Amino acid sequence: MSRVIAIANQKGGVGKTTTAVNLAACLAVAEKNTLLIDMDPQANATSGFGVQAAEAEQSNVYHALLGHKTADAVIRKTDIAYLSLVPSHINLTGAEVEMVNMIAREQKLDGLLPDLTEQFEYIVVDCPPSLGLLTINALTASDCVLIPIQCEYYALEGLGKLLNTIRLIQRHLNSRLEIAGVLLTMYDGRLNLSRQVATEVKSYFGNKVFKTAITRNVRLAEAPSFGQPIVLYDILSPGAQNYMSLAGEVIGHG
Ligand SMILES: Nc1ncnc2c1ncn2[C@@H]1O[C@H](COP(=O)(O)OP(=O)(O)OP(=O)(O)O)[C@@H](O)[C@H]1O
Ligand SMILES: [Mg+2]
Repeated sequence: MSRVIAIANQKGGVGKTTTAVNLAACLAVAEKNTLLIDMDPQANATSGFGVQAAEAEQSNVYHALLGHKTADAVIRKTDIAYLSLVPSHINLTGAEVEMVNMIAREQKLDGLLPDLTEQFEYIVVDCPPSLGLLTINALTASDCVLIPIQCEYYALEGLGKLLNTIRLIQRHLNSRLEIAGVLLTMYDGRLNLSRQVATEVKSYFGNKVFKTAITRNVRLAEAPSFGQPIVLYDILSPGAQNYMSLAGEVIGHG
């Protein structure tokens, strides 16, 4: 059985993809068979593994969601042992429109997972910055959601809406969904603002905040342009250490 973890926050640029890519890579480094599913039409997690749009166009998550291909047919290996990827492509924007009138449109991703849970111990799902049908599919298919929060102004703004969506999904679509935790990202301990946001998030979410905070680290921002997760790009960087530590916490949670 696999543990399915959605990385979600409808706010843009908070570190969802950086977390999805690097958490998945670190779980794999810990020799956990891991699958990363890119559910964002921006396909940043896909290019983060050096997979070009032209390569992904004929075989990506869109084809599986719409039933044109099996889940197995859209999985590809990565340069990291134990890590596979279901790529995305800009054509996934069309899926949201095409799925609107389908029966069980919220459960398309969930329907693909039974074929995969035997093969993978962890399935990490990168969500787009919206609470639309793609994110709802991810949350409906997941055991838990990891919420990255960027340590900056307005960090908590809009979180109420996300938490409300999670509650609605728990009630109507997926009663096993839980909050895995809140992850502080782009933390800079030298800045008052970062420390203030961290305190505020901890007072709101209590023990649901991961002990690991992801510090601001330029190596994490550089790695995607080389098509590599941080553990391949610079294993000694603070970013690699942070994400290894997060993977340790995730494994510890069972
Ligand atoms: N810890 C970090 N240190 C430095 N830069 C970071 C860090 N985390 C993320 N970034 C950079 O911040 C930007 C936004 O990160 P990312 O793409 O992971 O966010 P996102 O939530 O997936 O965005 P979107 O909502 O558009 O999908 C990227 O340029 C990324 O490289
Ligand atoms: Mg992203």
